[in-house]
Amino acid sequence: MERKFVSLFFAAIAVLFVTSAVKPSDKASFKMIMDLLRIPQTPERFKIGNNEVDYKSHDLQVLKFNWHNCGSSQDPVKVRDVTLVPDPIKLPGEVKTGFTAQFLTNVDSPLKAAVVIKKKVLFAWIEVPCVDNVGSCTYGDICSMIPGDPTDPCPPPLSTYNIPCHCPFREGNYTLPASTFELPSVGGLPSWLEEGDYQVEATLSSNNTRLACYRAELSLTK
Ligand SMILES: *[C@@H]1O[C@H](CO)[C@@H](O)[C@H](O)[C@H]1NC(C)=O
Ligand SMILES: *[C@@H]1O[C@H](CO)[C@@H](O)[C@H](O)[C@H]1NC(C)=O
Repeated sequence: MERKFVSLFFAAIAVLFVTSAVKPSDKASFKMIMDLLRIPQTPERFKIGNNEVDYKSHDLQVLKFNWHNCGSSQDPVKVRDVTLVPDPIKLPGEVKTGFTAQFLTNVDSPLKAAVVIKKKVLFAWIEVPCVDNVGSCTYGDICSMIPGDPTDPCPPPLSTYNIPCHCPFREGNYTLPASTFELPSVGGLPSWLEEGDYQVEATLSSNNTRLACYRAELSLTK
């Protein structure tokens, strides 16, 4: 118990340090950030009572899966009716997800994607660095990153519902009814992807024009 308190104390100091002026480009603080991100965190919804010190009371608490538009209602790509179960997501395991996407324009290469992933560590949101193209990364053209030949058929369930998986994405509506996906086993996942609360924000743009921005809050558990 005492040991746990001491390591919690040092983790708290590290969180304060990391969320202050330090940039992850510095080697030592990068290691500290990765060490902090690896510590499993009890999702907010499972914490009993509210006796944690509330440093930023306005701060987001993830109590259920939640998603919203972080762009504008005028953006040419709109996503609606996103479902995700189970909530919280169990690792390892499978998820069932579905959505409707409306493309008001054809979308083609170069299709830029900026992803920001944050994990709640103790009382602060810590940005997950981009390592080996996973984490908070900006991809210059996701069209060129999609494996396989553009003429290859898409894997099910995408093929079943005529959802394209290669560029270009033609103007139109695409609906994926709730479908089951197997998550990779723990060995194939980055070390920071541990139990806890997460925020994921993705901005798609092309030709310096935003196409869509969506943000989701979700929790992972064992
Ligand atoms: C796409 O969905 C929107 C919103 O439900 C609808 O207004 C529009 O007519 C649909 N477009 C096509 C081509 O089905
Ligand atoms: C890119 O943006 C410029 C300036 O807004 C516009 O003139 C041009 O037509 C756009 N190109 C494409 C391919 O959308």
